[in-house]
Amino acid sequence: MNEIIRVEDLTKTFPGVLAVDKVSFGLNEGEVLALLGENGAGKSTLIKMIGGVLKSDSGRIVLGGKEYQFHSAYDAMCMGVGVVYQELSIVGSISIAENIFMNRQPVSLLNQIRWKNLYLETDQLLKKFNLEFNPKMLAKNLSIENQQMLEILKAISANPKVLCLDEPTSSLTEKGIKLLFENIYKLKKEGLSFIYITHKLAEVFEIADRVMVMRDGRHIDTKAKKHVTENDLISMMVGREIKDLYGSGSDKHIVENKPFFKVEKFSKKGCFEDINFSLKKGEILGFYGLIGAGRTDLALTIFGYYQCDKGKIFINGKESKIHSPADAINNGISYLTEDRIKLGLYLRSTIKDNVIAPSLKNFRRLIDIIDKKKIDRYAEHLKNEYRILTPSINQKVMNLSGGNQQKCLLSTWLGIKPHVIILDEPTRGIDVGARSEIYEKIRQYSAQGKGVIVISSDLPEIIGLCDRVLVMRQGKITGEVSRKDFSEETIISYAAGIDPNSKRVVKSEQY
Ligand SMILES: Nc1ncnc2c1ncn2[C@@H]1O[C@H](COP(=O)(O)OP(=O)(O)OP(=O)(O)O)[C@@H](O)[C@H]1O
Ligand SMILES: [Mg+2]
Repeated sequence: MNEIIRVEDLTKTFPGVLAVDKVSFGLNEGEVLALLGENGAGKSTLIKMIGGVLKSDSGRIVLGGKEYQFHSAYDAMCMGVGVVYQELSIVGSISIAENIFMNRQPVSLLNQIRWKNLYLETDQLLKKFNLEFNPKMLAKNLSIENQQMLEILKAISANPKVLCLDEPTSSLTEKGIKLLFENIYKLKKEGLSFIYITHKLAEVFEIADRVMVMRDGRHIDTKAKKHVTENDLISMMVGREIKDLYGSGSDKHIVENKPFFKVEKFSKKGCFEDINFSLKKGEILGFYGLIGAGRTDLALTIFGYYQCDKGKIFINGKESKIHSPADAINNGISYLTEDRIKLGLYLRSTIKDNVIAPSLKNFRRLIDIIDKKKIDRYAEHLKNEYRILTPSINQKVMNLSGGNQQKCLLSTWLGIKPHVIILDEPTRGIDVGARSEIYEKIRQYSAQGKGVIVISSDLPEIIGLCDRVLVMRQGKITGEVSRKDFSEETIISYAAGIDPNSKRVVKSEQY
């Protein structure tokens, strides 16, 4: 088989961290090499060096038998190496077409952009990948899922020979994943090779030819997919076996039987209508639904980020008027966003400045003097408890690996100990080992008599973790399922608008 790229002894250090330690491997033409490893193992750093955005300390990249030094992502792209990074880089205020052809728009002899060609070429590309969008549409009007698709399309449009995808499906729904995989199969046949980073082991068994595992910056092993099991991969990654990912949630009893948190007749035009539900102390309530079902809008409205047109919130029988996130926090309601980069974190600030943000007033000593020692103690405690892997709480969040950023966000919101926490896709980008720890944290939290709402598109996660599930479709609650009746089929039926009992289509007129 033809080797398209070879990496030899690539090494990269950051202050206090050996992120990639003499990693060598080869990638064959037309193959998908899955790259696995725990949060902070060095996966993203490795492909940033291959993609030209980070300079290696030492080592070689050999393409088609020749050694290259890439000085920029553009350099790498010109040599046929494309990378879709973990963080989206789409510019919202310009069109889909301008995003795809950024820095390489078709131009006339006088260097003027040929708009007609730009739109035409984008249209052809979109159609080739079965995406139905107007090339002139502003990128910010696309959902996160479609922005991710656009990012992938942008890389593909440069006709790379090697395409590195860093957790491409973390914001995709089942439908988006299917479309992506169909396109990967198509492009593989055309000879394109992939390095595919993921935390979802099921994806490895579907799409990969070989699997490479990294740990603590080192290349542990690479194996043909047919020679490994899921458990082998977990042991290689984490260095131990994980027997029960979701832990003992099934037999956890609910502390109190009486609901303490109620949402009544909640409506917001174009988003959701007539939402009624309640939550008990100690309960973990799941919200399942397809993209566009209205779950995130509902959560953001409960949190006071949006205003509802109609409806009330009651805590312990008393109505709570919530007009802003500050009101929500003061009423003991918190929300962990699904979009840690845009909405969740102050990327240029340190871990400690992030974790104290929702509870600054707790760190005041005399009137307006900040108690720095208390801040350090609090941040250290969260860093240890949530195993945020980095040398110091003074590290900027932008320098953390994706999964460790997610742990920082989780610790920020669980740290202030709200009565009700809404977790929107809490384990996005979290490795399989850390996942089991986070599920344990969520379970321990609810067992303290708190209410936990989990919005998740990961059905096994919903089933493994929750006591009860509400299913939303087109802005309405279409079904409620208790743990004893959990089945993937029932929950998916409600999400698809089919009553699992009668198998009849549930009437769900648009709001
Ligand atoms: N710019 C940077 N400055 C300092 N440290 C960094 C920087 N980028 C990465 N690191 C550190 O290098 C290590 C490897 O990070 P990397 O992002 O490559 O991990 P990863 O395997 O992609 O993890 P994840 O699955 O969480 O995305 C981590 O300890 C991280 O904190
Ligand atoms: Mg990463």
